[in-house]
Amino acid sequence: MKIAIGSDHAAFEMKEKIVEYLRKKNIEVIDCGTHSIESVDYPDYAKKVSKKVVDKECDFGILLCGTGIGMSIAANKIRGIRAALCMFPDMALYARKHNNANVLVLAGRLTGIELAKWIVDAFLSTDFEGGRHERRVRKIEELEE
Ligand code: RB5
Repeated sequence: MKIAIGSDHAAFEMKEKIVEYLRKKNIEVIDCGTHSIESVDYPDYAKKVSKKVVDKECDFGILLCGTGIGMSIAANKIRGIRAALCMFPDMALYARKHNNANVLVLAGRLTGIELAKWIVDAFLSTDFEGGRHERRVRKIEELEE
């Protein structure tokens, strides 16, 4: 599995910890930055990570900003991206099962690191259920037209 990850300055420290966590699990990670706590604009990183997912260079994306809200809004503007801001593991589980989310968004300033790791695990270990959810996801795609 290959993951693209990106954050702004507000979630830089959490991003670094998640990168380390994933690499320890032998998951391949492309770190799209940012690479310091210097102030940056989150849409730039939402774009970099989303492009890797849409181009199928990576299986999933993980985006982090202070609240996760800016990254969610930005990533969901990109055709083919279904970004889910998750505050609890069950949100990540259902984002995969029901919404076939392909980008997980975390709130670096609001979520503790251990909880964030559980959320990541739930997201990456859950498959899309298909069935009736297939039709609903297709209807989301139609909204992109
Ligand atoms: C940066 O200060 C902050 O606005 C950003 O990380 C994010 O929370 C935006 O939604």
